[in-house]
Amino acid sequence: MKITAEQHDFCASMNLDSVRIPKHVAIIMDGNGRWASERGQERVFGHMNGINSVRASVEAALRIGVRHLTLYAFSTENWSRPQEEVDALMDLLVSTLVKEVKDLESKGVRLRTIGDLTSLPVECQDQIAKSKESTKHLDSLDLILALSYSSKWELVEATKQLMKSGIDPDALEASHIDQYLATFGIPDPELMIRTSGEHRISNFMLWQLAYAEFHFTPVLWPDFGQDNFYEAVRDFQNRSRRFGGLLDTNHTMSKQG
Ligand code: IPE
Ligand code: IPE
Ligand code: MG
Repeated sequence: MKITAEQHDFCASMNLDSVRIPKHVAIIMDGNGRWASERGQERVFGHMNGINSVRASVEAALRIGVRHLTLYAFSTENWSRPQEEVDALMDLLVSTLVKEVKDLESKGVRLRTIGDLTSLPVECQDQIAKSKESTKHLDSLDLILALSYSSKWELVEATKQLMKSGIDPDALEASHIDQYLATFGIPDPELMIRTSGEHRISNFMLWQLAYAEFHFTPVLWPDFGQDNFYEAVRDFQNRSRRFGGLLDTNHTMSKQG
């Protein structure tokens, strides 16, 4: 889908090059707990406020023409948190989907997921299925929630499938592995953002981030707004991307228009 005149003008007003908007941005939304404790509140308060930043990121992605936005919402390792926090996160997921799905629909957002959904409570699975069904025809933005996701889980699952497929090991290529990943059909993220000042990827998209640019910000997730999103994309546009060669593909792309 081509960028609209409105998106082009908006990018220009934000000092962004509309030709070099990353197609896929992935975010490790981190720092909700710290945000809440800074305010003397329970961790769940931070998760609730983090929803505003999800909304802001979706809005920003739509305004500048990002096509895929992946949000790391719950990792395989997050199951080890206190049951009370896990339950609160699952409830928040259901209530947010119920509240927001109409708005997502009206904006042309298609909901997708990656992760082991079978491990989620049934009410979550049902609400996710309904929300996916009602948005499946939309194509302005793919909002991909990583739920009960970890990269090692995904790679183990892919390996099981590959072994069952009976493929000749000597014929194995990277594209065969791609086919069995939860992200099959989705282009790899060009930009990965992590909030809260942590500099690690916590078992997130290890394969898909092979050549992504990383933007780390100290901003805690509930404080992350549209301007922080545009700032990350500006940072991305200032990087030189060579993919092991010598040519700066990021900047030549702009000149080709
Ligand atoms: C991110 O915030 C949300 C999830 C991982 C579900 P955290 O809950 O990790 O907040 P901090 O990192 O403890 O501040
Ligand atoms: C990563 O954040 C997972 C999500 C954002 C869902 P964590 O807070 O769980 O990661 P660590 O424990 O700091 O690595
Ligand atoms: Mg954290």
